[in-house]
Amino acid sequence: MNNVAQDTSYPFVLNRVGEAAGAEILGVDLSQPFDDDLRDAIVRALVANHILVFRDQDLTSEQQMAMTERFGTLERHLLHDVKGHETPQVHVIANVDENNNPIKRTYGSFHWHTDKSYHEIPSFATFLHARELPPDGGQTEFANMHLAYETLDDATKKQIEGLKAIHSWEANRRNTGSKPATPEEIKLRPPVVHPLVRTHPDNGRKALYIGIHTDCIEGMDREEGIALLKRLYDHATERRFVYPHSWRLGDLVMWDNRSLLHRVLHNYDMSQHRRVMHRSVVIGTRPE
Ligand SMILES: [Fe+2]
Repeated sequence: MNNVAQDTSYPFVLNRVGEAAGAEILGVDLSQPFDDDLRDAIVRALVANHILVFRDQDLTSEQQMAMTERFGTLERHLLHDVKGHETPQVHVIANVDENNNPIKRTYGSFHWHTDKSYHEIPSFATFLHARELPPDGGQTEFANMHLAYETLDDATKKQIEGLKAIHSWEANRRNTGSKPATPEEIKLRPPVVHPLVRTHPDNGRKALYIGIHTDCIEGMDREEGIALLKRLYDHATERRFVYPHSWRLGDLVMWDNRSLLHRVLHNYDMSQHRRVMHRSVVIGTRPE
């Protein structure tokens, strides 16, 4: 952990853990109901730090769902509804087969993205609870898109002002080298258009809104737009903007998709070790 600095303006212990973003919170038990004051303080901490790491959490799926609902409307996940799981709004992300044995799998989340940017109303906050971890690796990395925007040169800021990017599930499949989207999937998830630079509704800061779900730039020559997106993506994911989270068992990490890109590292032997996360999400608002 680097740059640990305590911020005493909260009703809980908050230590900044990353140069670019991130704070750990101690002394909050998310399995128990909490009042609006504590909820509002958590949101304030999230908006300021973008990633909150709640240590030593022990929650059932029901408790995780109840906790998540305190922050907004639960988003149903279209891909990962888990068979037989009692609360599909809290779903399991795990590299396991039907016998619960670890298997090597490929995930779109190996690439930098912001959750559900291929939806008109993308995700606000995502919650991941670490239930089983490999002995090493499997970090989740976060890149701060406010810093990425603010460090662009003036010419680039001027160039991208007012531009809009097209995001789609079809582009996600293509950009991640996955099985191409089917006509049914494309119909279910048609392309959407979002500003290339969005303004955070709570902190007022601008952020690049890009990632692996982008296809091209609206109204720009396709190849030229793809080249611009690539240039922004390369800049935005430079190490100076990144907080890499090394998981501890029981960590519950909450992050703000309006401020970040994220990805998971597949730097461990997936065929030998299980990595099991319980995930829940609240939906946000239309990016502006
Ligand atoms: Fe994600």
